[in-house]
Parts: sequence; C-alpha cells; structure tokens
Amino acid sequence: MNAPSPPLAPTNAALMARRRAALPRGLGQTYEVFVERADNAEVWDVEGQRYIDFAGGIAVLNTGHRHPRIVQAVKAQLDLYHHTCFQVLAYEPYVELAERLLAKAPGDFAKKAFFLSTGAEAVENAVKIARVATGRSAVIAFGGGFHGRTLLGMALTGKVAPYKSGFGPFPAEIYHAEFPNPLHGVSVADALRSLEHLFKYDVEASRVAAIILEPVQGEGGFYVAPPEFAQALRALCDRHGIVLIADEIQTGAGRTGTWLACEQWGPQACPDLITMAKSMAGGFPLAAVIGRAELMDAPGPGGLGGTYAGHPLACAAALAVLDVFEQEQLLARAQAVGARLRAGLQALAAQHPEIGDVRGLGAMLAIELFQAGNLQQPNPELTQRVCAEALARGLVLLSCGLYANVIRILVPLTASDALLDEGLALLGAALAAAKHVPKPQ
Ligand SMILES: Cc1ncc(COP(=O)(O)O)c(C=O)c1O
Repeated sequence: MNAPSPPLAPTNAALMARRRAALPRGLGQTYEVFVERADNAEVWDVEGQRYIDFAGGIAVLNTGHRHPRIVQAVKAQLDLYHHTCFQVLAYEPYVELAERLLAKAPGDFAKKAFFLSTGAEAVENAVKIARVATGRSAVIAFGGGFHGRTLLGMALTGKVAPYKSGFGPFPAEIYHAEFPNPLHGVSVADALRSLEHLFKYDVEASRVAAIILEPVQGEGGFYVAPPEFAQALRALCDRHGIVLIADEIQTGAGRTGTWLACEQWGPQACPDLITMAKSMAGGFPLAAVIGRAELMDAPGPGGLGGTYAGHPLACAAALAVLDVFEQEQLLARAQAVGARLRAGLQALAAQHPEIGDVRGLGAMLAIELFQAGNLQQPNPELTQRVCAEALARGLVLLSCGLYANVIRILVPLTASDALLDEGLALLGAALAAAKHVPKPQ
C-alpha cells in the first residue's frame, strides 16, 4: 500500500479563500499574508517569505515579537493561574502593575489606575469617569482623531469613512473641534478658535465633562499636538472645570521617546486622565485608565471593571515590558531609532518630491505623499502602491491619515540599526517602483 501523502502546506491564497468564505468583509485585510512565526522585528509567512515588520501589529510591539523576557513571564504566570476575574478573586500582579504605572505617570498629585482589555474600553471608561466626576455629559474630541470601534469610540472618532459609515446613530453630546495641522492649513490659533466656536454655537463650556485628544494623532496621520496647544487646552479645562483626557493608546509605552508622550507637554499641561493600551503589554490584550485619584474614585463600587479586564497573563506581560524598558533602556533607544529613521526618511524626501512632509515624535514617524510638489493634492493612490511594492520586497508598512496619504512607521524599538537600514532601503526601492506605473496598453 502507498503511504498517505503529507498534507499540502497552506498557501496565503488558499487561506485567504477560506477567510473570505468564513469572515465578514467588514473585517478589513491590509495584506493577503498569513503569518507562521515572528521574532523581534521580523515575520515569516506560511510560504516561508520573510518580512521586516515596520507595522508592529499597529503600535503594539514596541518590545518586538516574542521578547524572551515577556514570553518567560507569561509562561510562568500560566503555570500559576490564568483567570479568576480580578473583581472576584484578586491577584498581586494587577496591583503591582498599577503601582508601577502610577509612579511613571506625570503630575504631582495623587493618582489611581485600573485595567481593561482594549483601547476602546479604556476610552469609554475615561469618559464614564469624567461624566460621573463632573455631573456633566458633553465631550469634545478632535477632527482626525481615532478612539476605537465601539459606539462611543466611533462617536469620538473624527473620521467618517471607514470607521463610522452607516453605524449611527451615535451617543449624543459628542462634539469635534479642529486639531492643529499647519500642513493642511490649521494653526494652533485656528484650532483653539474652533473650540471657542463650539462653546458659542453648540454647547456651553459648563456642560462639557471632558476634552479628549491624542498627543500625536495615530490613525489620523501622525500629526503632533504642539505643547503650546496642550498647554492652552489645560488652561481652558481649568477655567471651565473640564477633565482633560490624553488618549495615549498609540503614543504610550515609549513610542515617542518618553514613556508617555504627554510628558513632553511640560508640567503645566498634565492631563487629568490618561488611556493606555497596545504596547503596554507587548502584544497581550490590556488597557489602562490612569488619573487623578479624586476623579478615579467618583464611580461607585461595581461601576468599573470587566470579566477579562486586567487579565493575569496580560499583567505579567506588562510587568515584563516595564522591566525590558528599564534593562534595555528603550526610551533612549526610541530616541535613537527616531533619529535614524528621520534621517533616512529625510534622505528619501530629498530624492522624491512626492514626500511633502517627514514628521513625528521620537520613533513615531511618518511621511506624507502628494502629487509631486503640490501640497494641495494628497496622493492616496501612490501611498497604496508604495505599501504594495514594499510588501512585495519584504517590508510591512501601514498607511493612515485623513486623506489616506500617510505612511507611518511603528517598528519595534528593539530592532537593530542594520534592520532599520534594511527597511529604509526597501522603502526607497518601493517608492521608486511605485512611481513608475506602466501605462495601460
Ligand atoms: C489613539 C487610539 N485610541 C483608541 C484606539 C482603540 O484601541 P483598540 O483597537 O484596542 O480598541 C486606538 C487603536 O488604534 C488608538 O490608536
């Protein structure tokens, strides 16, 4: 008898066909690639193709794929217990993580912290806390901001397609002001004026519970909130008794060269509440709300929490992330990675007039693409082609931006200089190839 033939190795195409048949199309798919394994800043797909990972699972892998210390901490936790529900039977790693995050948060005042599973949940809970603490209902967010895919997260998000299209009605009393974006004609003064307009046209300041902003807009296009804007918001919030929330879900955990990006606003612009998620637990689902103790204690017992919120494996991973940051001095590394990438991107901009801007904070960097030399004409098609050409050469990139014309870099901070340079070279090759579209026959 013939021996049974070994099962065929799956291909990306075959797995995509199964994915299309089984999963809804609303679950977008940036690249038709199925991963087999990953290590630090490299990924291999089921067909054996290697990729340099400049996406980091959308800002989740500041400490890289499978950092040995994080893997070890999670395995050790798995051998003890992996679920009790913190509100039923508590465990020390949760409390220790809260203590260590409080020690790192800016602001010379008493603070408290608690945990959830996703970024959107953290945003929702920060708004809940602000509402209970102030007895007010309105919330102001910013155009181009992104705060998650739950109904409140979508309501706060300042970008309709694809996040909000068809999903309304959204929770009421959410307003959007302009985010400073000089490249697209919005100065800090314009943005502050738009807030005054909201108070004049839409909602009185005394009914506003919170203002929420990202220190660097993530999905919106890596536009950086200048410290003077944050300081003006802080003064406005103080004047009107409004809670200032910094959404650090994408910027936090060292990406911008400080543990939290809002540290760079200076002591005169401390947020009252901070949301974190993504890289804080190195790839395990964990989110946090950190803030002024008197606000955090406003909701009554039972008002906060969740079945999986602050899961033991995720807490163990987050504690290991904190250790790795200390032991490997990843904040200094974030600054070095940022400087190296910025120099590389500026060199590319000197060769390619389509790159209209190189910007970011620390290692949170992006290029914005336009029709050559024309800042009035964003170029989403070229952006898409660059990403496709990069993937074909073994580099995973992510696009973003209100006009879908921004390429953002969220490479692990643990990547070597050699890997960064290799990725930059592939980006350069992808740009050159994407500019030469064959004319239709
Ligand atoms: C700034 C910001 N807030 C909130 C979220 C939502 O986080 P999650 O996808 O974990 O719900 C994201 C996700 O990209 C984000 O970047």
